[in-house]
Amino acid sequence: MVDLLLGLQWGDEGKGKIVDVLTKDFDIIARFQGGPNAGHTLEFDGIKHVLHTIPSGIFHENAINVVGNGVVIDPVIFKKELDNLSKFNIDIISKLLISRKAHLILPTHRLLDAASETAKGKAKIGSTLKGIGPTYMDKTGRNGLRVGDLEFDSWKTKYRALADKHEAMIDFYNVDIQYDLEELEAEFHEGIAKLKELTFIDSEEYIFKAQAEGKKILAEGAQGSLLDIDFGTYPYVTSSNTTAAGACTGLGVAPNKIGRVLGIFKAYTTRVGSGPFPTELFDEDGATMGRVGNEFGATTGRPRRCGWLDLVALRYAVQVNGVTELMMMKADVLSGFKTLKVCTAYKYKGDTISHLPYSLEGDAVTPVYTEMQGWAEDLTKMTTAATLPKALNDYIAFLEKELNVPIKIVSVGPDRLQTIHR
Ligand code: GDP
Ligand code: IMO
Ligand code: MG
Repeated sequence: MVDLLLGLQWGDEGKGKIVDVLTKDFDIIARFQGGPNAGHTLEFDGIKHVLHTIPSGIFHENAINVVGNGVVIDPVIFKKELDNLSKFNIDIISKLLISRKAHLILPTHRLLDAASETAKGKAKIGSTLKGIGPTYMDKTGRNGLRVGDLEFDSWKTKYRALADKHEAMIDFYNVDIQYDLEELEAEFHEGIAKLKELTFIDSEEYIFKAQAEGKKILAEGAQGSLLDIDFGTYPYVTSSNTTAAGACTGLGVAPNKIGRVLGIFKAYTTRVGSGPFPTELFDEDGATMGRVGNEFGATTGRPRRCGWLDLVALRYAVQVNGVTELMMMKADVLSGFKTLKVCTAYKYKGDTISHLPYSLEGDAVTPVYTEMQGWAEDLTKMTTAATLPKALNDYIAFLEKELNVPIKIVSVGPDRLQTIHR
């Protein structure tokens, strides 16, 4: 069986931290979608690590880390990640395996991302500009360059044809994008050389065999359910399926081989980039969440928009993913709020609804809030569920009732140790 760990909101729920906490119980950690638009943060022994492409189990000796076929890899960013890891004495060659079917992000994919966003003007997605959209477009358009192509000499011809096409497309956008392709390509080739030092595998076969041998596998999601290409707040989404089904296509795991579905959410909500966010706060409360929660994008450094927990959106994510266990992150950030609000329904065209309507854009919905008492206690040094304040236990009980799924972990700080199991 393969267990899944999925973000249920708009990303940055704390997936990196939790995968790192859970890795001791798994043999394999596998990323199945997304690319270096992700920024997964882990903290232990006083050091903070940010991973973009490499799965978050990489610091544990017991686990093999797999970059699956559904992932898109930028060799330039990948090389930087590997360089950052070089001082930690990790046996990368045997611990990190790359799917031959994963697609490569070309320098011109990044440029196309920038051209597309510039051309959109005010309607821009707020992309991380890592070339994600254009790379998945080439994948579905059947033009992409894959890791496995690097094992054949013909890859350079394929590369040239694709890059030349991209240059023509950039011209078509007719926007002012300055670039020096020769410089970008030099960097790309250095990245490719580094990537070729690693072990390429047929990951679906590898995962299949590992299952037959009874290995425990955890699939690590990137982004969050509301950024899913099909079920998210389209078009303000990423270009992959971030939901449970994405793990089947992104790793080659059959649906009946999915075990537990672990859903991770913040005790409030954040979003980085453009797009609707019904419970967004523009007041002191939102500013406090951002300040205390240190809400800045791990990939782009952009400030994250903050707001109250949205149970309409969360219920939807639980439903689409078939979540069996929940993990609530950043409970410590809510300490000190006298009153907490939780959105339980939306006002929509005069009705009260408890599902996500087709469009959330503009003022389409107004949140209906339930108010709850806050807690003043500092949670960051707490280590057991028995010590949690009553108001927090009430908050948790309310969410469990509304979502009908147990909350098994409460996270009270960024460090590995600041994790309470219930
Ligand atoms: P991911 O993309 O889901 O892996 O999440 P990010 O790493 O982008 O963002 C989560 C941020 O919150 C990181 O800076 C984490 O170190 C931090 N974090 C994770 N869990 C907690 C927590 O329980 N409390 C606090 N205060 N910070 C946390
Ligand atoms: P992790 O894995 C938060 C957002 C971008 C933008 C939209 C599309 O760290 O949770 P893209 O670069 O994919 O074309 O951007 O999606 N986005 C994320 N937001 N966390 C992420 O990843 C994100 N990856 C993409 O801000 O709004
Ligand atoms: Mg992140």
